[in-house]
Parts: sequence; C-alpha cells; structure tokens
Amino acid sequence: MRQAMVAGNWKMNGSSSSVSELISGINAGMGGISSTEVVVCPPYVYIPAVAAAISSSTVKLGAQNMCDRDSGAFTGEVAGPMLKDVGCEYVIIGHSERRALYGETDQVTAIKFAAALRNGLKPIFCIGETLEEREQGVTEAVIARQIDAMLEVEGVSSLANAVLAYEPVWAIGTGKTASPEQAQEVHAFIRSKIAGLDAGIAEGLRILYGGSMNAANAAELIAQSDIDGGLIGGASLKPADFLAICAAAEQA
Ligand code: PGA
Repeated sequence: MRQAMVAGNWKMNGSSSSVSELISGINAGMGGISSTEVVVCPPYVYIPAVAAAISSSTVKLGAQNMCDRDSGAFTGEVAGPMLKDVGCEYVIIGHSERRALYGETDQVTAIKFAAALRNGLKPIFCIGETLEEREQGVTEAVIARQIDAMLEVEGVSSLANAVLAYEPVWAIGTGKTASPEQAQEVHAFIRSKIAGLDAGIAEGLRILYGGSMNAANAAELIAQSDIDGGLIGGASLKPADFLAICAAAEQA
C-alpha cells in the first residue's frame, strides 16, 4: 500500500506575511489528515520561516530546485547540504518550468536528481509532455526519455528514495486538467516501465499527478489506481483548496 502524498509547489509567490498566513492556515487544517504525507515547497528565502512554523505540525518541507554541486563558487545557487540544513526532506527536480525557461536538459535534471540523493534529500522528479508532443503521439516516448536519462545516472534502485510527478506541460497553470483516464494511462505506463526493471520498486513507487489539480477534480484523479497523490501549484496557495485536496487524498 503506497502512502498518498500531496505536495504544494508555491513557485515564486508570496511575501513574509502571506507565507506566514498560508502555512498557519494549512497547519490549522491538518487535524483530519493522518495517512497522507503533506509537503510544502516554498521559495528558498521563506524556507526557514516555514520550517519554524511547521515544527509541531506533520507538514513536511521541500525545495523547488537545487544546485547539482554541494558548495563553492556557484553564484546565486543553493546546494543540497543547505537545504538539508534548513530542514528540507524533499526537493522538486526537473519541473517543466525549469526545463523550459531555464534550459534544464534531461542530463541536468539527472545530475540534480543524483545531487539530491547524495545529500539525503528525496527528489520529486517531474516528467511530462508538451501539447505538441501529445498531439504528435509521442507522449510515452518523451516520458521514457526523461526517465531513462535519470536512470542512466542513478539506476532504478534510486527510486526507492524518490517520488515521480507526471505533469503534462499543457495542464500546468492552464486550468486544463488531464482527464482521470488520460492521467491514469500515463501513470500506468510509467509504473510498467519501472516494473520492467524492478517490480518491487515499481510497486512501492509513488507517482503524483500535477497540472491544474484542484479541490473539485482531485478526488477523481487520486482515485485512479496508479495516481498516488498530487503536485499542486495554483491551488496550493489557498489553505482551504490545498486542504481539500489533502482530504481527497486521505479518502482515496
Ligand atoms: P498548477 O501547477 O497546479 O498550477 O497547474 C502544478 C505544478 O506546476 O507543479
């Protein structure tokens, strides 16, 4: 039985006061959430404040990105040991915004995935096709390529300490969610691909869906047999919406 997970990707949003309000709201609603792992991923600068705010809550902490190196002359970067030091347990790797806007290739995401594991952080490794790729019928080929780049560096056993997130690029921030059937089809493909290498790892691997998941559609998506939770952008910025998604995961 895989533990459901709901992770909030706050992206580049918030201020000291709004972040404090957001995390207080989430903390306050955690009472009924006992079997779902709930993670928030604030912008780097707010991580210490959120870490303090969740010190007596079951909410866990993640970062949105990290450097592939562990220290040194890499101006503007944040290293794995630093994230660990301030209380992160998870780190999002290879988000489509990093891939599309900051030139992160499959190879870059693979070495960041390795850096996360090396530092005792659990990667939430994002994969997904663009609309054009879906229309061309190459969704599975794209996802296989993204996963293979990572497997080449770290091997399938590394997935025992990681989470995958299927995020169709056309669904992110667009309000256009993949249908439960569309999402399930890709999740099943991912799990069977991993099962081809290691059945036990595939069975235990959590695969989140991301892309306009919200309070209204979460239950139906998470009810799919290979969807183990969600990576939430927009809806993670409102405590009530985020908590409703956590409640949906709790029920599934
Ligand atoms: P969204 O973003 O929920 O706003 O579509 C999801 C994500 O980018 O992780």
